[in-house]
Amino acid sequence: MSKHEHTFVDPVPAPSLSQQIESAKTPNAPGVFITFEGGEGAGKSTHIGFLARVLEERGYEVVRLREPGGTEIGETLRSVVLDVKNDQMTDECELLVYEAARAQIVHEVIRPALQRGAVVLCDRFYDSTIAYQAYGRGLDREFVRQCNHFACKGVHPDRTILMCTGGSTEEGLERATHRVGADRLELAGEDFHARVNEGFLKIQEQDPQRVRLVVSDQAKSVTSRRVFDQLADLFPWMASEEECPQRLFASLDVKKVQ
Ligand code: TMP
Repeated sequence: MSKHEHTFVDPVPAPSLSQQIESAKTPNAPGVFITFEGGEGAGKSTHIGFLARVLEERGYEVVRLREPGGTEIGETLRSVVLDVKNDQMTDECELLVYEAARAQIVHEVIRPALQRGAVVLCDRFYDSTIAYQAYGRGLDREFVRQCNHFACKGVHPDRTILMCTGGSTEEGLERATHRVGADRLELAGEDFHARVNEGFLKIQEQDPQRVRLVVSDQAKSVTSRRVFDQLADLFPWMASEEECPQRLFASLDVKKVQ
């Protein structure tokens, strides 16, 4: 065959307009992957729980996870890494335990859920490793990034909500530990946690499209509305007062009677 002759190759069919819109919305389409990050006591759980409920009421399959954890292996690794008895654990060992738990949850739960079209809500993910192990512990940031990459095998959050109380590191730690006592990470000291909090803000500055800062300095209903606003490009109904009215959020401010 001369170099001017070409073998005939079937053209790849162009994606339909709806396919293009769908894949432009999120690289994880048909699923959506949302992570919540923040220092200690930032109040992520309430907002993850509320978002999960609203999404489920609208018919989405929601997979709610926490890191480390979310799988049998991950929960075992969680108890190892957070156990105050393991005070001899090196920073390198700590990093690898978090990454081991992550590799498992990505493979076992997150990727299959995204492939099914679920909305995955994860309490902490790889930004925590950059904030805690790189900024907090002082491990090489580029190496930690590579470890994240190795564990995630191409799975990335579509959106990350970085929650911050606007208060001091000390107040956050106090809030996180007053009910159940401090775990090994919470005992790492105030300077460590101040570096972690700064690290999170740097991560946000470097990737403002994905990572959105939500300050929780007012009533829970106000914070939750802010969370929804930061997700409205992924779920346009969240921006609509008709479909997502203010009264929807009011239940968050009702104090539970003990
Ligand atoms: P939490 O889920 O109750 O916040 O506990 C997890 C602790 O582990 C928290 O102190 C943050 C820390 N952590 C890391 O240091 N690196 C990580 O990669 C992750 C996911 C969590």
